[in-house]
Amino acid sequence: MNKKLNILMLNGPNLNLLGTREKNTYGTTTLKELIILLNKKALSLKINIYHYQSNAEHEIIEKIHESKKKIDYIIINPAAFTHTSIAIRDAFLAVNIPFIEIHISNIYARENFRSNSWLSDISQGVITGFGLDGYFWALETAVKRLLNPLNKN
Ligand code: DQA
Repeated sequence: MNKKLNILMLNGPNLNLLGTREKNTYGTTTLKELIILLNKKALSLKINIYHYQSNAEHEIIEKIHESKKKIDYIIINPAAFTHTSIAIRDAFLAVNIPFIEIHISNIYARENFRSNSWLSDISQGVITGFGLDGYFWALETAVKRLLNPLNKN
């Protein structure tokens, strides 16, 4: 039997408040509810999924470091660290694990400072503005890519 793929879902600061935080922008689903739905999806895709949320930059960096040799792919909503963290960028460059950057809101349709991402150019791609759907699309795409790295569609 083939080894199961290991995918890590990382959520950055304030995403623990999903469901109560700025509902017009981020919706009413909680992080706990989102994780249950993603776990179901992972089950149907026959992969292992791991979840981690932190409000602390160093904890996210440590999680990325720990992922080396254990995790095949990372899906990250870096939240506000997207726009500030060269340290998270350097962590990804250090471990060389492929990743997708996702945002619930459309970061290009908001304040100007949200249009800058320190991660986009080193990610495999960015999904922004499609609400929680982005998490599920990213998961499907990650699996597709891992199973067939030449499949870039
Ligand atoms: C976010 C967008 C960021 O600009 C913001 O700081 C967040 C969430 C999103 O999912 O839309 O916290 O990453």
